[in-house]
Amino acid sequence: MIRDEIAGKAKATLLGNWKGSYSVPSNRLYPFQWNWDSGFVAIGFSLFRPDFAMAEMRSLFEAQWSNGMLPHIVFHDVTKKDYFPNYEFWGTDNIPEKPPSIRTSGITQPPVHGFVLEILMERLPESTEKTAFFHWLFPRIKALHANLYADRDPSGEGLVFIYHPWETGRDNSPLWTPALQRIQLTPQDIPPYRRIDNTIANPEERPTSFDYDRYVYLIDIGKKCGYDGKRIARESPFLIQDAMFNALLIRSNEALINLGKTYGLPVDDVVQWQQKSKTAFESKLWSDRIQTYCSYDMVAGELIEMPEIGGLCALFGGSPTCDRAAAIARYMEELASGRSQPYWLCPSFDPDHALFNPKKYWQGPVWPQMNWLLSKGLHRYGYDVLAARLATDLLELLEQYGFYEYFDPRKNLSDQLTKGYGGGDFSWTSAVALDLLDAYGSA
Ligand code: GLC
Repeated sequence: MIRDEIAGKAKATLLGNWKGSYSVPSNRLYPFQWNWDSGFVAIGFSLFRPDFAMAEMRSLFEAQWSNGMLPHIVFHDVTKKDYFPNYEFWGTDNIPEKPPSIRTSGITQPPVHGFVLEILMERLPESTEKTAFFHWLFPRIKALHANLYADRDPSGEGLVFIYHPWETGRDNSPLWTPALQRIQLTPQDIPPYRRIDNTIANPEERPTSFDYDRYVYLIDIGKKCGYDGKRIARESPFLIQDAMFNALLIRSNEALINLGKTYGLPVDDVVQWQQKSKTAFESKLWSDRIQTYCSYDMVAGELIEMPEIGGLCALFGGSPTCDRAAAIARYMEELASGRSQPYWLCPSFDPDHALFNPKKYWQGPVWPQMNWLLSKGLHRYGYDVLAARLATDLLELLEQYGFYEYFDPRKNLSDQLTKGYGGGDFSWTSAVALDLLDAYGSA
């Protein structure tokens, strides 16, 4: 496929997943609007449908709760019943903060919206709609960050926690395994449920039932706490300060500060959050032993020291020193050519680790939106060759296999494989392909 063909297919996929005022990640597997997916989708649309880019963000933030929480799923289409956990299971109807006429889940996802707005403001043509959109969205993103700092940072240290693996966006990463394994459950602890994901996608690529029982149990804790972050901080057995979530918060804080300065809006509060967050990120989340950033398990009181893709996103946040950035760049170079076999960049989990699985959801495969984050992060630190490699590896993968949700990272199996994994015709895959094509041309 040449550049124009990839771009054409990417645009057609985005338009095929567009529902009139928002997008679904993939028609069959994920039939609603997902929080951080929408941010990447808006970046993709900004290159050819500015009106859709703005509508995507508006429909997401219309579902924001009055306390600032931005839900991870917005269930726009109530006729779609073949999804679990569906709207009823989340039990958010009696939550006073939820907008009454909109159906949402009760947890959040990585805060990409600040840097997405910054990109849209740079890219969209000037218009009265654009100005109105900016003034509508900016305070809402600030309210989201304010909510994270108020509800998810109990000791005010500048790092926010997640209480469900799905909030990290890296749902089934082996990082969460030790903390999930610590949760002892009896059958009575688990509310009755029936999965659908493993009837649509290959069960070998999806989470196990051990994990799923714990996912459902943690939703139940959120529900019992009225989805109140302060109560959850006291009651949940699973509280993690995720490196990627916090790095994206830092990058989005930075975007809000830049935008505030450009458009004359107050950002003193954001500046304060940012100072604390950057300091805490650098002093708490770096592991000297494994030379990368790690997530911190607040219940066990220790870093989760496993090399994993989330920690590499620190570069995108911009807080690392040049030495730490160099260690991360070296790690990615080594994955590309310095291991027992070469990998497409970037495996989502370390291939030499016992828990690596090249086919399974977040346990090894390459994820398109992660390549976008890593490519931008490397570029920020001047690693332009490696940044281009992250872009062209992804473009080659989707040229070879199609616009899948994720891909096998083993390069020497390339000839034997015929497709990617998870859902097909995927929105963020298409969106980041368009954006990376714009920057790096054809693969
Ligand atoms: C999966 C991913 C999550 C994403 C969602 C929709 O659950 O792990 O990050 O937002 O699919 O694409």
